[in-house]
Amino acid sequence: MKILVINGPNINMLGIREPDIYGKGTYRDLITTISTHCEKKDIYLECFQSNHEGDIVDKIQAAYLKFDGIVINPAAYTHTSVAILDALKSVGIPTVEVHISKVNEREAFRQISYVSYYASKVITGLGFDGYLKAIDFLEENFNNL
Ligand code: DQA
Repeated sequence: MKILVINGPNINMLGIREPDIYGKGTYRDLITTISTHCEKKDIYLECFQSNHEGDIVDKIQAAYLKFDGIVINPAAYTHTSVAILDALKSVGIPTVEVHISKVNEREAFRQISYVSYYASKVITGLGFDGYLKAIDFLEENFNNL
């Protein structure tokens, strides 16, 4: 199985940005955690992070027919990006949306998610574990999504 993990803007600042909300682990720690999990499961993994909406759209388009699942934390673009939603719909790859924080308990502007119009599942508030749960969900439901 081939999984693409996409992280949006400011996720590269994990460990520095608002540690009370996002924790002390760095982006590198996140990638190590995800990679170790995928190695154990024999899942092919690619991780991508960008602060630029168009680059995320390009990456999703490039995944067409190449990946079996996408785990995406669109970060701030969650709440604004119809372009990322449309890219996911274009390629038709089963997708799980992840948020490190409990977005549903935060500001009103974070209550809208465009990506969740497409995602098969949304996982929030579990920190780095949310990414692992998303990978497990895609693996368990391979062929059924
Ligand atoms: C986030 C939540 C978003 O509202 C925020 O803009 C982020 C990170 C999360 O992982 O909790 O950058 O997606």
